[in-house]
Parts: sequence; C-alpha cells; structure tokens
Amino acid sequence: MTKMASQELLSVKAYDPADAQATIDIFLRAIREVASKDYNPAQIAAWAKVDDVEVWAQWRASRPTWLAMNGSVAIGFADLKADGCLDMMFVHPDHQGKGVASLLLATVVAAARNQDLQRIFTEASLTARPFFERRGFVVVAAQQVEKRGQTLANFLMEKTLA
Ligand SMILES: CC(C)(COP(=O)(O)OP(=O)(O)OC[C@H]1O[C@@H](n2cnc3c(N)ncnc32)[C@H](O)[C@@H]1OP(=O)(O)O)[C@@H](O)C(=O)NCCC(=O)NCCS
Repeated sequence: MTKMASQELLSVKAYDPADAQATIDIFLRAIREVASKDYNPAQIAAWAKVDDVEVWAQWRASRPTWLAMNGSVAIGFADLKADGCLDMMFVHPDHQGKGVASLLLATVVAAARNQDLQRIFTEASLTARPFFERRGFVVVAAQQVEKRGQTLANFLMEKTLA
C-alpha cells in the first residue's frame, strides 16, 4: 500500500470477475467526463459504449488486468496483453491527477519486465498522450481510428524497456 499526498490509501489488486461492472463504470465515466474535453459529443457517444457486459467481462478476464483501489473502491484499471499492448488505462474522474495511472503503469511495466518484453505499446487518446509522454512513451504514429461510425484521433505510442 502506498500513502499518497492526497491522503488516499491506494493499492493495486488483480482483476476478479466480480469487478466487471466496476471497470465498466470507470471506463464510461472517464471517457464522458475527462476525455470529453478532447473529442466531440458524437465521438464520445461512439466510444463510451459497452454493447455486451458478458463480452466485456470475457475480454477483461482474457489478459492480466489490474485495479487501482482507494480502500475497497476501484478507481482505475489497466491491462497488458501478451504482445506488450497496454490496451486500456482509465481512471475515475473523481481521482484524476493523484498518481493513480502512474501506480497502474508501474504495475504494468513490472509485469512486462517479468515477461521479458522488450517494449510496451498503446493507442493513446488525445487526453492520455501527455500522461504517457511524462512516463517515457514516444509517439510512433498519429492515427485515425474508426469507432461505431465515428473517426477518432489517437497515437500509437511505445516505451522501450531497457
Ligand atoms: C490519462 C489518465 C489515465 C491519467 O490518469 P491520472 O491518474 O490522472 O494520471 P497521474 O495522476 O498518474 O499523472 C501522471 C503524470 O501525467 C501528467 N498528466 C496526466 N494527465 C495529463 C494531462 N491530461 N495533461 C498533462 N499532463 C497530464 C500528470 O501531470 C503527472 O505528471 P507528474 O506526476 O510527472 O508531474 C486519465 O486522465 C484518464 O483516465 N483519462 C481519460 C480516459 C483516457 O483517455 N484513457 C486513456 C485511453 S488510451
């Protein structure tokens, strides 16, 4: 456990199937309330959607996923696929800017090193790009991706693990 300057008691735990709804709630709120400053309402509506909770739960359980906990409440999550892809990194709007994503990223990096991965890569939103740059990722390519009929800008970014 790490005591943060904000007085929140933060910890990280492995995802459990019972956490599916908590990760959905964080995902939707982070997009609607935080990423919404960088994308238009139609883009946010297309992105902030979970079509099937069962599919989401299977997807979460299909790769290591970690939750950041404030006491017993989940406030963020991140994952790592076997190829080094950090597919998701979302922090609850009420807990932004307190080091939650940094704690999750440190967990992801440690796991990647354990697997002898040479690099981690992610498709960072406009919102998340500054965070990843602060933590040593570089932009490999600017992209336009399709989500439910909308086109969203993001950045393929990578961090080399020395
Ligand atoms: C991007 C996100 C995960 C960052 O989470 P967070 O917990 O607020 O990040 P941290 O508090 O750990 O921030 C770490 C560093 O990044 C910087 N940072 C974070 N977000 C930033 C932003 N939008 N602009 C500039 N700097 C930012 C912080 O200043 C901090 O720097 P420092 O500690 O070196 O001074 C969070 O803002 C989020 O959920 N965004 C919306 C959803 C999203 O776009 N997710 C990513 C999808 S790819």
